[in-house]
Amino acid sequence: MRILVTGASGFLGTRLSTALEAGGHEVVRLDSRNCDLTRTDSLDRYHGRRYDQIYHLAAWTQAGDFCLHHAGQQWIINQQINTNVLAWCHRCQPQAKLIAMGTSCAYAPDRELVEENYLEGRPIESLFTYAMSKRMLYAGLLALRGQYGLSYLCLVPSTLYGPGYHTDGRQMHFIFDLIRKILAGKLLGAPVVLWGDGHQRRELVYVDDFVEITLRLAASAENDLVNVGAGEEFTIREFAQRICGLVDYPFERIVFDAGRYVGARSKCLVTRKLRQYLPDLRLTPLDQGLDRTIRWFWSHRELLIRPAPQTAAPQPSSSCQLSVASCQLSEGETVGSDHQQTTGN
Ligand SMILES: NC(=O)c1ccc[n+]([C@@H]2O[C@H](COP(=O)([O-])OP(=O)(O)OC[C@H]3O[C@@H](n4cnc5c(N)ncnc54)[C@H](OP(=O)(O)O)[C@@H]3O)[C@@H](O)[C@H]2O)c1
Repeated sequence: MRILVTGASGFLGTRLSTALEAGGHEVVRLDSRNCDLTRTDSLDRYHGRRYDQIYHLAAWTQAGDFCLHHAGQQWIINQQINTNVLAWCHRCQPQAKLIAMGTSCAYAPDRELVEENYLEGRPIESLFTYAMSKRMLYAGLLALRGQYGLSYLCLVPSTLYGPGYHTDGRQMHFIFDLIRKILAGKLLGAPVVLWGDGHQRRELVYVDDFVEITLRLAASAENDLVNVGAGEEFTIREFAQRICGLVDYPFERIVFDAGRYVGARSKCLVTRKLRQYLPDLRLTPLDQGLDRTIRWFWSHRELLIRPAPQTAAPQPSSSCQLSVASCQLSEGETVGSDHQQTTGN
């Protein structure tokens, strides 16, 4: 098939595009450098080709408190990106199936995280704009389906993890942040402080499992919204314990700061519909996924383990980007930022 992928340089887009190419498809990979989707004319030069599938992954966001502090920009940029992609699909690619990404943050925290509730209630305040722009993306799919017969699939991923995450210093999704803190505690001897009592529960999906699910659903599910989660969640303590076991760091040395706000106590997608579509689905066991992720993390430790901007004293020199043997933190400084609990995805 001929396939176009937006957001192809991202954590998910890189692995999805590679899997599509490995499956023998012709893939056009778009990112913000070769096609700035905030521009209305950005897709003009792709008019000439007909695509069978368009995977729309591009979004302007990060984990942690990024959404809280960039709400206005996020509203403008993500609305532009989504509107331009949907309008182009309608105008120039009516034959294509559009596979778009939603977010579990779109669900209101007081409702069951089941597909029927995706547009119900009010999303959590700190992720409100990001969540609403994803709801609007879904609303756009429904509208174009209703008026013009667009063929679509909207997937709602839980937090994804695995090798190949960003190494550019941006805020990390909670599991990467946990790994970073614990590895830095081991390597630098710094205190590892996690926010909250550690009993808040979170769900993860291994990125390659998500890619496989996406490819299978793209071939079998039509005009539907589908949650993609593991169907089980673990406490932050359990994640930390497993990471400690895998990197050989004493769990007892972790300090839980119970006075801190940590967002929702629990966040687990209902996956009944996913299981109906894919009854034979087998997911990567958590320990195996964590092991692979930590190995990847370890091989990029020079880039990934460093004091967080908000807690770090002014950097004396670039050597503090962690040369494992030589870098020391300032006295009393904790390693890493503290967004392992807010899980903006
Ligand atoms: N990762 C998760 O846990 C998770 C969970 C739920 C939903 N999702 C959704 O899944 C999708 C992929 O997630 P991800 O983690 O792979 O995201 P990501 O790593 O942040 O990648 C975002 C992608 O969007 C592109 N992009 C940003 N602004 C753009 C613009 N103006 N024009 C064109 N492209 C632009 C980026 O290009 P550059 O690299 O050039 O900036 C990048 O390729 C997103 O829609 C996200 O909301 C992700």
